[in-house]
Amino acid sequence: MRVLIVGSGGREHALAWKLRQSPLVSEVLCAPGNGGTAAEGRNVPLKDADIPGLLRFIREESIDFVVPGPEAPLVAGLVDACRDAGIPAFGPTAYAARLEGSKSFAKEIMREAGVPTADFQVFEDAEAARAYVRAHGAPVVIKADGLAAGKGVVVAKTVDEALEAVTEMLERKSFGAAGEKVVIEDALVGEEVSFLCLCDGENVLPLPSAQDHKAVFDGDKGPNTGGMGAYSPAPILPEERYEAMADLAVRPVLRVLRERGHPFVGILYAGFMMTAAGPMVLEYNTRFGDPECQPLLMRLRSDLMECMQAAIRGELKGRKLEFTPKSALCVVMAAEGYPGAYPKGLALSGLEEAEAIAPGEIKVFQAGTRSENGRLVSSGGRVLGVTALGENLEQSRHLAYQAVRAIHMEKSFYRSDIGAKALKKGGPA
Ligand code: AMP
Ligand code: GLY
Repeated sequence: MRVLIVGSGGREHALAWKLRQSPLVSEVLCAPGNGGTAAEGRNVPLKDADIPGLLRFIREESIDFVVPGPEAPLVAGLVDACRDAGIPAFGPTAYAARLEGSKSFAKEIMREAGVPTADFQVFEDAEAARAYVRAHGAPVVIKADGLAAGKGVVVAKTVDEALEAVTEMLERKSFGAAGEKVVIEDALVGEEVSFLCLCDGENVLPLPSAQDHKAVFDGDKGPNTGGMGAYSPAPILPEERYEAMADLAVRPVLRVLRERGHPFVGILYAGFMMTAAGPMVLEYNTRFGDPECQPLLMRLRSDLMECMQAAIRGELKGRKLEFTPKSALCVVMAAEGYPGAYPKGLALSGLEEAEAIAPGEIKVFQAGTRSENGRLVSSGGRVLGVTALGENLEQSRHLAYQAVRAIHMEKSFYRSDIGAKALKKGGPA
């Protein structure tokens, strides 16, 4: 099979790397891809949400299977377009992807499905929203309804901050159409954990738990990023709880979508806050997380292509996903300045040396990279996702940082405390 992966991040490199290992896959193509996906197959210069362009290419090149990585092509209807053209694509339709594409839609579905989540109200009118904020008090959370590249959430500590966020989104329209509606919800306190499930519309197979590190600096300081590192499993959500978590937050959502005539196929990612009152859903993503995908796929033993095909065919019942019991940990190396403005074209070296430290146990996934005259240089904010397997979290962490130190990248930085929170607790890693 010739497989087209859509996207250009570390997640897409991990998908390309894993899918290429399947005996069912003859070639992996990636649109637009990066330096890492180019090494796994072939890059195609098409934007990830250019649905007509992608569809033309899929037809012309007789692509057999499509795997959208990020949310944009899902929300823009790539899976629907492929389905209409008779080409299997792994992921939700545009309707089901609204679970990620519209926060008010997600909250409405959660309410209907009885999923525990923060109390909320939806506003389009700035004056009404401000009145609600004043009556509610702080802390309170303001969320732009649509996709805002991870920047549309303000956890306001004061009423003034919350009022400012409302005005920014609903009046100054700083998020454009994505901020024409806002969700205002109660602030929750606790530790966050990522819980991803493979879904075929009806059946659900949980993947192991993972934890992301969203803040840019050590100690969870500084602005939020796309994710500075991740590890799996996360001791805060141990394996014996996976089925109960799927019953709480994934199966009920699948039921509601099925009843609406829009079954959810693909990866449903529940972002949980583990509060004192129990787990509550902060958000859904309708795809693999980036960087959670990197440690998760390092641990996956099953054939990913076969799993994706079974999901599309509605044949997950009775299947099992096999994962190594080892821990996997990913450290993101980023360009100085990220998530703000950062330089591009930074030289990179030492990737092979890093992987050679422990062959088969270390993989340097590339995100913002490209090849320039045969030389690898940076082209994005998050540049590499250095991922290692170990017998436990302490070992995967040790090995990942050893690999990071073998890599040279000018003007780069990384968090030095990925996984530290879990180790301090001394939980079973
Ligand atoms: P979301 O895109 O909804 O996951 O929000 C992004 C981040 O904002 C989350 O990962 C949390 O760190 C934070 N956040 C979102 N909703 C809440 C909430 N209700 N209470 C506290 N923090 C939140
Ligand atoms: N790592 C969080 C996300 O992919 O949305």
